[in-house]
Amino acid sequence: MYYSCHFPVLLILLIISLTSMSAYSHPCSEDFLKITAERNVTGSCKKLDTLGAEFRWNHRPNGSQIDIAFGAKLEADAGWVAWGVNPGDTPQMVGTRALIGIKQPNGSLVINTYNITRDTKRRCQLLPSKIDVGVNNLKFDYSSQIRYYVIYASLDLPPAYHLSKFKHVWQVGYKAEGLEPKMHPTTLHNVDSIQTLDLVSGSSHNIGRHRRHLRTVHGILNIAGWGTLLPIGVIIARYFKSYPMKKKWWFVLHISCQIVGYFLGTTGFIIGLWLGHASKHYSFFTHRILAIFIFAFTTLQMFALRLLPGKNDEYREYWNMYHHFLGYALLAVISANIFEGIAILKPENTWKWGYIGLLGFLLSIALVLEFFTWCKFFCEKSRKSSSTASQVSGGRSEGT
Ligand code: HEM
Ligand SMILES: *[C@@H]1O[C@H](CO)[C@@H](O)[C@H](O)[C@H]1NC(C)=O
Ligand SMILES: *[C@@H]1O[C@H](CO)[C@@H](O)[C@H](O)[C@H]1NC(C)=O
Ligand SMILES: *[C@@H]1O[C@H](CO)[C@@H](O)[C@H](O)[C@H]1NC(C)=O
Ligand SMILES: *[C@@H]1O[C@H](CO)[C@@H](O)[C@H](O)[C@H]1NC(C)=O
Repeated sequence: MYYSCHFPVLLILLIISLTSMSAYSHPCSEDFLKITAERNVTGSCKKLDTLGAEFRWNHRPNGSQIDIAFGAKLEADAGWVAWGVNPGDTPQMVGTRALIGIKQPNGSLVINTYNITRDTKRRCQLLPSKIDVGVNNLKFDYSSQIRYYVIYASLDLPPAYHLSKFKHVWQVGYKAEGLEPKMHPTTLHNVDSIQTLDLVSGSSHNIGRHRRHLRTVHGILNIAGWGTLLPIGVIIARYFKSYPMKKKWWFVLHISCQIVGYFLGTTGFIIGLWLGHASKHYSFFTHRILAIFIFAFTTLQMFALRLLPGKNDEYREYWNMYHHFLGYALLAVISANIFEGIAILKPENTWKWGYIGLLGFLLSIALVLEFFTWCKFFCEKSRKSSSTASQVSGGRSEGT
């Protein structure tokens, strides 16, 4: 009996190992390689992990001079695209020397250098200023073929900016006033836009990569545990009590689905707690509260195993009502929170539609089974009433 619930576990392990393989960096797009080569930036190229950005550079072997090209999409009538270097120990926004290209509402493009400080993060006005990096040939371009906004520059780096531990950050924002860029969004994409890059060898260290992978694992475990196995267990408990399985089997199946589901979901929940703890930039209040609610009350449901009153106990009926009601309420909260999590993660749309498909599949199975249960109920009732009462009042079972 246990096989039916072990299969999903194997599937999940497979998916997780596949996603960890795909976490390695992808090459730059052909189009980006082409337009940057036209500007004589012909060196290594990296497709960055966030905001759909790409970065290419030329490094001159004997100097601290580099040519860079940074491209990103900006799908709005106005806004800004920024790229910068940070002389500090970690790549982060504060302390970045940035090149910010602004798209004005009338469509014209301007670019300037900006010194990003702690005050910027406190939302003080950010205006163009000198930076301690030499900047030549600064350009901000729109490439209509690939709908990219591209920053080009030749940089002369002081010794504090180590070429082999080059900390760079990038960002896209949708509000600007004149030459002043305004606060960018703070989705996971926006706060993950940091990287330490070895400009000499081309290898990179993404602080966020490990964490991004864990987020995917967190999502898969929760969708599989809370979102799939628990509902399947409920369907089994509701519709298979007497048919087609032997009496005891439904209970074993129900319990094994709930235990495996609870185990996977709890692992996902713990990873989620760790992720929440590790990220100082943001917190997702609703997602977290719902998660704690789900964990607390499914735990209570699991205790049901131990606290189940005896069959003839007078509380048994109330206990059943409570167990069932809480179970259905939990299923609703769980799917709400899965949509919440998908909205935060903003992965490809396949996640959302995949989950909608899964929900639809489970719901339609439940509907079909519900229909059959009612049919059976009415058939039996009508058979009974027709066998006992057909002689007395001939036409009563017509309606069923
Ligand atoms: C225009 C004014 C800006 C304001 C008011 C601003 C504000 C902020 C705030 C408040 C956060 C923290 C997010 C959170 O805790 O939820 C943040 C993060 C971040 N910002 Fe900005 N920002 C600005 C411009 C920029 C620019 C120009 C860049 C890139 C060159 C940038 C790159 C980043 C990055 C990479 C993070 C995440 C990592 C970190 O916090 O250090 N920001 N920003
Ligand atoms: C690229 O380099 C070639 C040869 O050095 C030069 O003729 C051309 O003007 C350069 N193009 C740009 C956009 O700098
Ligand atoms: C690199 O070395 C060559 C010859 O040694 C020299 O002419 C050139 O100026 C140097 N470039 C830089 C950026 O130092
Ligand atoms: C667009 O607006 C800016 C000011 O916001 C102005 O400096 C610039 O000249 C305008 N460009 C065009 C093409 O009208
Ligand atoms: C830029 O800001 C940093 C502090 O983040 C400061 O130490 C540095 O002197 C500033 N640079 C310029 C050119 O103002």
